[in-house]
Amino acid sequence: MNGCPIDHAALNSGCPVSGKAASFNPFGGDYQVDPAASLRWSRDEEPVFFSPEIGYWVVTRYSDVKAVFRDNILFSPSIALEKITPVSEEATATLAKYDYAMSRTLVNEDEPAHMPRRRALMDPFTPAELVHHEPMVRRLVREYVDRFVNSGKVDLVDEMLWEVPLTVALHFLGVPEEDMDDLRKYSIAHTVNTWGRPAPEEQVAVAEAVGKFWQYAGTVLEKMRKDPSGHGWMPYGLRVQKEQPEVVTDSYLHSMMMAGIVAAHETTANASANAFRLLLENRSVWQEICEDPSLIPNAVEECLRHSGSVAAWRRLATADTRIGDIDIPKGSKLLIVTSSANRDDRHFESGDEFDIRRENSSDHLTFGYGSHQCMGKNLARMEMQIFLEEITTRLPHLELVPNQEFTYLPNTSFRGPDHVWVQWNPDANPELRDATILLRRQPVKVGEPSKTNISRTVRVEAITPAADGVVTVTLSDPSGKALPKWTPGAHIDIDLGDLTRQYSLCGNPDDLSRYEIAVREESESRGGSRYVHHTLEAGNTLKMRGPRNHFKLDPAAERYIFVAGGIGITPIVTMADHAKAAGKDYEIHYCGRDVAAMAMLDRLNADHSDHLVVHSSALGNRLDIATVFSTATAHTQIYSCGPERLLSALEEATAHWPEDSLHVEHFTSTLATLDPSNEHAFEVELRDSGLTIQVAADQTVLDALRASNIDIPSDCEEGLCGSCEAPVLDGEVDHRDMVLTKTERAQNKSMMTCCSRACGQKITLAL
Ligand code: HEM
Ligand code: FES
Repeated sequence: MNGCPIDHAALNSGCPVSGKAASFNPFGGDYQVDPAASLRWSRDEEPVFFSPEIGYWVVTRYSDVKAVFRDNILFSPSIALEKITPVSEEATATLAKYDYAMSRTLVNEDEPAHMPRRRALMDPFTPAELVHHEPMVRRLVREYVDRFVNSGKVDLVDEMLWEVPLTVALHFLGVPEEDMDDLRKYSIAHTVNTWGRPAPEEQVAVAEAVGKFWQYAGTVLEKMRKDPSGHGWMPYGLRVQKEQPEVVTDSYLHSMMMAGIVAAHETTANASANAFRLLLENRSVWQEICEDPSLIPNAVEECLRHSGSVAAWRRLATADTRIGDIDIPKGSKLLIVTSSANRDDRHFESGDEFDIRRENSSDHLTFGYGSHQCMGKNLARMEMQIFLEEITTRLPHLELVPNQEFTYLPNTSFRGPDHVWVQWNPDANPELRDATILLRRQPVKVGEPSKTNISRTVRVEAITPAADGVVTVTLSDPSGKALPKWTPGAHIDIDLGDLTRQYSLCGNPDDLSRYEIAVREESESRGGSRYVHHTLEAGNTLKMRGPRNHFKLDPAAERYIFVAGGIGITPIVTMADHAKAAGKDYEIHYCGRDVAAMAMLDRLNADHSDHLVVHSSALGNRLDIATVFSTATAHTQIYSCGPERLLSALEEATAHWPEDSLHVEHFTSTLATLDPSNEHAFEVELRDSGLTIQVAADQTVLDALRASNIDIPSDCEEGLCGSCEAPVLDGEVDHRDMVLTKTERAQNKSMMTCCSRACGQKITLAL
């Protein structure tokens, strides 16, 4: 047991280590079964605690774990690979026999040495380079599945998930494929050596294997040195060494060769085994990805969040500091439990739930964050996507062998089941009936998945007339599950034949058994509304994405004025319902040409008659915008949806109102596509990642970030939705989005990276 780091003499009370903290043991029991669940108490009661068992401070909440990752100077990664259990003298002697001299690699290296190396060696990891590996990964996965597809029962780990990532890692590093069995033994030993708690008698055997691993790495490197022209990360490193010998040293390359195999292999093998277990345990989700492979990229991300293969990581406090409310003395060791952070309800709604349509899955910290964030994350994502694509296509009827016990190698950090036994009826393999399924491909988009691809199937329950030329369409989940939550102002995207259209939700946000949208048949329709009115029938199914809300109601306003033109009433009616329920003062101006064609009048009259003014040209009481808005009123927010004509008139009429009083719903952006002849190139400094990147005149900041392997979520990519927002630390931004208010723009604290640019030559972001 390690000594308590807190000066008891300075305290009036006893030792502050709570009973739960004292009994925390990451090598056994609950933590090994489910680390995130075993630390729920900590997230809720004691998010930073000292564990006498391991002598580490344990950090469990999302915001704290991310803050630790963000500052790699205050929280040094130097102990990331330190043995968690002290090595016995005999084991040390065994390692010495093999001249074992593992030194720092990228992952545990401090600045200023780390960043120049990371930069020098990053190129092979960028999406542009990784696409070249896709055919190799597909070929390998196909070959392994061919071997067992007709067998009916298999351990996925032994037959595929262990060896494929190892072979991919070897290809990526540029090493030969031979000696795979030995390597497999060595790399297990390496995990136990670093993260596990080997018994004293085991330590020597582990050290033997680690020593052999070290020697093997050295031999291969020497072979490569004779001809460093090959593909792969190591030959690339050898070539960089010729130009920058002080940045990429010999000892570094030898260490990196061994660490690189471990980094790329076990992490991905474990992550894939976790993913198969999780998806097959949630059979209906498995079914969904079989039916709609476009869900696979986000499913991978959600698996990495919910059951990632790196359960915890380590940092060392280099100065006295605080995390949350807790003082952390200089020299403290931190176990930052990413698996716990990834299920923190404060960041991920109902964090324990497995939801492959979760919009912020890729915020997970399984790949770390900031200047040391995993360089190989996009290779890992690609492998996992291809595994799932291949198996869901060829063995959709696969199921877990019932009642199997899942075992895990006891250690703090790397996590994946030793075996995942699955079974199926080979006579029912779809390829026996239709060999063309083998030609199907779900294209891999290297990088973080885009939210715009997260779709779900809905069934049309009813199509009912709502007014002249307007129908209400009621949608539900075909399996009767609740649809996702939404708030007034939200819309969904629906695929109608070859078109995608956006419609505001206009039903009751408290009733998640159904959605309602109202669709007007437009005379100039390119087909969307015509399809709804003339082709769509009750009982049909549709693909839907969303809901999303770019038109949110400000809950703090004292008073609301709602202005709707025609079918623009759909988001407004739910906002008015909300204002009424919240007891707010509000008025609705509803404009249309002819009352008979104005949808939802009955509902408005029933629920909002005292607040409603109907303006119709046929009635001769058109809305006199200039008069209604002549007097600017404080604490009043105006929300409007309708034709562009109405919106521009409102903008003009409210110009003298307090800033940010008017909110309008744009379904499509009026942003022109980027015209490089009118733009200039500039620099973006990324403070957390320690990088400076160039944004070319024909590139968005978002594109430039992704090309440099920086993850950033995006959705609309037209400045409408706010998902690509990044915090700005310095430099003036040329804001071009429709998300930020005038005041927010003037504060210059954040920008939408999909469209906004630098006014000058440089901006600095907290990424
Ligand atoms: C670093 C996880 C796959 C190469 C890391 C870190 C984590 C991690 C947690 C430390 C991050 C930090 O300190 O902020 C994972 C997981 C993987 C995976 C969960 C699979 C699912 C890979 C692959 C490769 C790779 C396939 C190589 C092809 C690296 C490298 C670093 C790293 C080189 C060090 C980066 C630096 O310190 O600058 N990884 N990794 N990883 N990973 Fe991965
Ligand atoms: Fe929607 Fe940038 S992605 S605002």
